[in-house]
Amino acid sequence: MQWKGRKVLVTGAGGFIGSHLCERLLQEGAEVRAFVRYNSRNDPGLLCYLDRNLFSILDLQAGDLRDSGAVQRAVHGVDVVFHLGALIGIPYSYRNPREVVDTNIMGTLNVLEAVRQHEVQRIVHTSTSEVYGTAKMERIHEGHSLHGQSPYSASKIGADKLVESYVRSFGVRAVTIRPFNTYGPRQSRRALIPTVVSQALQGSTIKLGSLDTIRDFTYVADTVAGMMAAVAAEDVIGEEINLGSDSEVSSGEVVRLVGALLNRELKVETQSDRIRPAASEVQRLRSDNSKAMAQLGWKPAMPFEEGLKHVIAWCVAHPITQAVDRYEV
Ligand SMILES: NC(=O)c1ccc[n+]([C@@H]2O[C@H](COP(=O)([O-])OP(=O)(O)OC[C@H]3O[C@@H](n4cnc5c(N)ncnc54)[C@H](O)[C@@H]3O)[C@@H](O)[C@H]2O)c1
Repeated sequence: MQWKGRKVLVTGAGGFIGSHLCERLLQEGAEVRAFVRYNSRNDPGLLCYLDRNLFSILDLQAGDLRDSGAVQRAVHGVDVVFHLGALIGIPYSYRNPREVVDTNIMGTLNVLEAVRQHEVQRIVHTSTSEVYGTAKMERIHEGHSLHGQSPYSASKIGADKLVESYVRSFGVRAVTIRPFNTYGPRQSRRALIPTVVSQALQGSTIKLGSLDTIRDFTYVADTVAGMMAAVAAEDVIGEEINLGSDSEVSSGEVVRLVGALLNRELKVETQSDRIRPAASEVQRLRSDNSKAMAQLGWKPAMPFEEGLKHVIAWCVAHPITQAVDRYEV
């Protein structure tokens, strides 16, 4: 796929995956407009870690996804939209479900309306494996039923269904990508892997909600490659496609591997007060990624231990001073 000169909008550009996607698109020669959430500090989020030369050619637009006018202006004149902007914290969604619904559902509606009016060639909408809830089969394929196990998950299901309806009703050229847990440099210390690494760098006791939660981790560069492949692929309009590595790693195994890589003995303290409500906890997620392989020609390339080494290197280079024992998925 030729990215050179293509005009691309990324929402959620200042976030973890969005910043890596912008970086890769710029390296490929795309003209990237980055939609970041406004703040009065002129802070572009994680885009501040981009090489200065790349950052200087970004078209940075600050705004809010809930503001239809701002979204219209951001979409105007682009060929491709990657929609990643969302509120992603599950515990935050327990406390603030209305804001999460407004951002994730109404924000997506604003993006879809703008894409429809400006006749954008393709939109890649970012869903999540959380829409499936706890797995009812060993490897989750795209036909797995959807379960609103948290307000976050419900909001993403709502957004996905709006996308489906805009494809069917208005011919919007959308593909929905469902990443399973993505990890890598720049990820918030709120997520499991950076939490474990950061705690391990500060001491020998790791405080976690549970050791048994099982996830399918994909390195961020692989997730980005899959999203970009979804623009190039034929016959994927209206499809939902998992991006996962088709492997299972428990939280306990993450601690063991990080300890081994750091050559440190790590103890774990589980914190029962931080465990999610039982019926809301998603215990196991493992992807069936055969559709991504067949339709996008995508295959995850980063071995898990190698990816962990990149996260460790990032955390060592970017130490934080505050406590990092607030583990929240
Ligand atoms: N990280 C993962 O493991 C993972 C897994 C599956 C799906 N996803 C999905 O991928 C996307 C990106 O996730 P991420 O991990 O990079 O999260 P992130 O929180 O780092 O990035 C999301 C970005 O959206 C922006 N945003 C939030 N509300 C906004 C608003 N009202 N207006 C404008 N911007 C707003 C935030 O400022 C943030 O920069 C999300 O849609 C998420 O649901 C992530």
